[in-house]
Amino acid sequence: MKKDLPNPPKPDSGRCVVIKDNEKFDCHPEEDPNQEKCERRGCCWSPKNTIYNKTKNTPLDTPYCYYPVNYGGYNFSASTSTYVRTFKSPYPNDITELKLSVAHRTANCMNIRITPNYPLPVRYESPFPMIMEQTVDSEQSNLKYSMNKDIFGFKVFHKDGSIIFDMAPNSGFIYADQFLQISSNMPKNSTLYGIGERRGNLRIDTKVWQNFVLFNADQPPAENMNLYGSHPFYLVKDESIQNPHYYGVWMLNSNAIEIIVQPNPAITIRTLGGILDFYIFSGPTPESILQEYHKLIGLPHMPPLWALGFHLCRYGTKTLNKTKEIFLRNKNAGIPIDVQWNDLDYMEANNDFTYDKNSFKDLANFIHELHDQGVKWVPLVDIGISGSEANGTYPPYDLGVNMDIFVKNYTGGIFIGKVWNGKSTVWPDFSHKNVLVYWQKLFQDFHNELSFDGIWLDMNEPSNFYNGAENGCPDTNLENPPYLPRVNGGMLRYKTFCMTAKHEYSDHYNLHNVYGALEVYNTYRALRSLGPNRPFIISRSSFSGLGHYAGHWSGDVFSTWHDLKRTVSEMLSFSLFGIPLMGADICGFNWNTTVELCARWYQLGAFYPFSRTHNTDDAIAQDPTALGDKVLNAAKKSLLTRYSLISYLYTLFYRANQNGSTVARPLFVEFHDDKSTYGLDEQFLWGPSLMIIPVLDEGKSKVNGYLPKGIWYDFYSGVSLQSGGEFLEFNAALDSQIPLLLRGGRIITTQKPELTTSLTIKNPIKIMVGLSEIQTAIGEVYFDDGVTFSGNGSLFSIDIKNGVLNVSILEYNYKNIPKVNEIVILGKTEPVSSVIVNEKNVTTFNYDSTLKVLKIVDLNADISNLLVSYH
Ligand code: NOJ
Repeated sequence: MKKDLPNPPKPDSGRCVVIKDNEKFDCHPEEDPNQEKCERRGCCWSPKNTIYNKTKNTPLDTPYCYYPVNYGGYNFSASTSTYVRTFKSPYPNDITELKLSVAHRTANCMNIRITPNYPLPVRYESPFPMIMEQTVDSEQSNLKYSMNKDIFGFKVFHKDGSIIFDMAPNSGFIYADQFLQISSNMPKNSTLYGIGERRGNLRIDTKVWQNFVLFNADQPPAENMNLYGSHPFYLVKDESIQNPHYYGVWMLNSNAIEIIVQPNPAITIRTLGGILDFYIFSGPTPESILQEYHKLIGLPHMPPLWALGFHLCRYGTKTLNKTKEIFLRNKNAGIPIDVQWNDLDYMEANNDFTYDKNSFKDLANFIHELHDQGVKWVPLVDIGISGSEANGTYPPYDLGVNMDIFVKNYTGGIFIGKVWNGKSTVWPDFSHKNVLVYWQKLFQDFHNELSFDGIWLDMNEPSNFYNGAENGCPDTNLENPPYLPRVNGGMLRYKTFCMTAKHEYSDHYNLHNVYGALEVYNTYRALRSLGPNRPFIISRSSFSGLGHYAGHWSGDVFSTWHDLKRTVSEMLSFSLFGIPLMGADICGFNWNTTVELCARWYQLGAFYPFSRTHNTDDAIAQDPTALGDKVLNAAKKSLLTRYSLISYLYTLFYRANQNGSTVARPLFVEFHDDKSTYGLDEQFLWGPSLMIIPVLDEGKSKVNGYLPKGIWYDFYSGVSLQSGGEFLEFNAALDSQIPLLLRGGRIITTQKPELTTSLTIKNPIKIMVGLSEIQTAIGEVYFDDGVTFSGNGSLFSIDIKNGVLNVSILEYNYKNIPKVNEIVILGKTEPVSSVIVNEKNVTTFNYDSTLKVLKIVDLNADISNLLVSYH
């Protein structure tokens, strides 16, 4: 396999000078390039300044060392239909023969795999998420591709001719053992989203040079850092053609990834291992791309209804009494609460699957008391297991040793690091064939002691207080790869495992980014075996496909106005990544919050799909009752509004679970024809119907929000607003609620809020209609028992036209649905003199000719049988 390859040819200057600055692909991404090193790589040297000190902190810009036109490196071999390396790349161990295989999975999804053209040694491929094989005939596909026979390259295009992936001939395609690189030019008018987890605007600026590193890390969200999760997916709107369309690209690869965006525009993807395995999607709308993508990686799970209620949490709640006190004072203050959490404080010596028999003595009873009140309990579980308890005293360790289940070090002993545990920490190998038996047993025993309802998985990037093992890591090419992306701490093992740590499936070097997702998968399976209910899991680390099993929170954000603002684009990015159950710690995790910040944060956080307050042990308390009336009132009002909308929110999750559509929806996804929405990430929608405009700046009592063209209705007053597609100013005093608008043409359902979702969902239904200009509207609502698996629900679509509201049954399995008691029709332009409900005249209605609102009350009607006409 290995043969000596010649050095790359020196390019003649003709192949260098033709390349414009924005088209230059970096041939020397390492620090300190110079002419000699550059030309040794067969690349072109053209520095902008004579003094050049490119370091890690220099913002990316035009590279001085760049690939020439037709850089080459691989030639097509007609006899084998494969590509053969012709000269050395700058990185060791070139894969000398490559095969490119293409499969059409659906009409709008194509898979392109580039693999070594020999069976051995087997190259690593990510075990997560599992992708089912699926193919359609190429005739049925909207996607086409063409191969370049002269140098390695391919193009993917839509059958209408528009280009989706276009390997640039002046980029360096490299496929070496620890450095794989591929670049694509993007259409000139591209709008780009995705690539995560990262902090920044929702839309990625394609006019500047940027790089993003995807390598899971215990790192509070900050710009230019790699964060808790990895999502090598991007979504593009191509406007360079007459019929604008969308495409998406996902690379299934769990190695450390670096993505460069440059202003040509173009994108370069580098990964430190695995194979190049691309899934390419095309479609007419952003939502259609996201649905294809989410179906591929695993549709978002359907959370239990209670997961959509409010969650109360705080690190540093050191006793059960304190937990009770905080819970009760919030409950007594009228704050709706569905879930009480405990951080690791409840554990004995911070050890998983234990609880402190002194300070949390009565915990089991407390959980029963919560259950009696319809409230759930969720404890934290850290991914690491204490490694130094006395022999025979700590089953999670002893059993793990017996089952030989822990991650190993380079020499075959157990890999030892340290997190919260007293002396040392070891970690289950979640790729191990027996790990599920181990994990199931721990959860089963734990559940026998404490009847938890869901699980909070923390520190699973995995986080480690050492950089590697206590005594360091061996000096190998896994620890010190030939190319190191700009990772936090300047080393791969920074605050995590040695890259040489061994899992049954592969080295940690390969598995790092999916290790947490494998924990989530095994936890999901373990919780499944505890009973018939849908598991509830919130995980800090994430990878593509995690949403099929769990939700996510954005980690240790700071109590600052900047962080408050950024939580919106972070939440919306996770909508793109197929993890709709997402939110940030309300009022911020680190540092002390303030009254105004916290009040504003509750007002926004009430609309995070996952709505939880949580903060660190060394900051002031910030539960709704902790900071006085301003915060209390803001929290109470906005959370009660959330609860009143719970049937709508639940229906959106049902849609996500069925079709892969988004819950917290960026405006550009819904209003994709309206360019003004493309960069908006300080407001958002719930599904297609509700606009949420939070206040994200200090000292404001008004907020500007963009309303796409059409009629919108103030959710609280019913007042209508006609927008021509413009920014409007809304009153939003701290003691009022943030603007919430129902979109004209849409129908939602509401209920009187109670202090839990399970009580709220039993209240009579109010159908709330926002009529369009032509007096029509559509909507839907879904009900089930809130906890068990799907197939037992009822789905109704509701529509209005020509003065008739009609409910159609789409699914009718669950019958325990409250009556419809009220219908409010906003924007009814003509007065109404008669209302007929299911063929009977009713008089219990009122038409407000100033507000143009028709209200029909005291209906007591079955939603499964409802026909209302009004004239
Ligand atoms: C880190 C988590 O991000 C945070 O939410 C938690 O409170 C601490 N670990 C302590 O468990």
